[in-house]
Amino acid sequence: MLEELIRIIKEAGTIILQAQVTNEDVNSKSGRANFVTAYDVKVQRFLYEELSKRFPGIDFLGEEDETHKGLPGTDCFIIDPIDGTTNFIFDQKHSCISVGFMKNNEIIAGVVYDPYQNELFTAEKGKGAHLNGEPLKIKNISLEDGIVAFGTSPYYREKADETFALTRKLYDKSLDVRRSGSAALDLCYVAASRYALFFEYLLSPWDYAAASLILSEAGGRISTIEKHKLTLTTPCSVIAANPIAFEEFSQI
Ligand code: IPD
Ligand code: CA
Ligand code: CA
Repeated sequence: MLEELIRIIKEAGTIILQAQVTNEDVNSKSGRANFVTAYDVKVQRFLYEELSKRFPGIDFLGEEDETHKGLPGTDCFIIDPIDGTTNFIFDQKHSCISVGFMKNNEIIAGVVYDPYQNELFTAEKGKGAHLNGEPLKIKNISLEDGIVAFGTSPYYREKADETFALTRKLYDKSLDVRRSGSAALDLCYVAASRYALFFEYLLSPWDYAAASLILSEAGGRISTIEKHKLTLTTPCSVIAANPIAFEEFSQI
């Protein structure tokens, strides 16, 4: 399955690379700063069409579905067609496509593709994680020697006080902090040891489905901030780190 997923997701990446976003392409969704562009819809449609040709009968949960009624079945693709839409609108060139494959309520394959850097993060359950085909093995970097990334849960502004209070604490304990605008890439960057830790108070399953497998197959740890297993059915908080930073976080 992974080879086919990679082929399809890379082809979808060309839609992002060739995009010329104009004001007419951008529409607001519910909440402040929550946008969808014609390209989010186009990439999702392309993925649905290509994946259903290749894997008929498998359901989909995609961010740009008209309604989100929860997970459709035991086997489904969980898709974020553009993670980092605000970056995309402002031409920041830091966005990705994320596709996770869930079977019996667990993600067993995940692909995250950043078309700008041509970086492909992949994982299969029990078979490790890879970056552009090279094995990814997370390094144990303690907070004081690493960079911490965080997300601001921009569509849930009520989380801002908690977010910035925790960021302040982690800023004091680490080298510095970053806010990139793509949660899926943030998680993959933890897997690649570019960040020691990432957290966000509220994310949706399509933000972390694929990347959570990439992170854990690389040897990283991931859970909700309250230390529960991530759910794939509802939005939840996410903390991801290498094993040492994860333990240090628990002490904070
Ligand atoms: C968003 C990005 C962002 C994170 C938000 C997500 P979107 O996804 O991952 O970094 O802070 O919580 O919703 O809307 O660009 O797909
Ligand atoms: Ca997203
Ligand atoms: Ca998105």
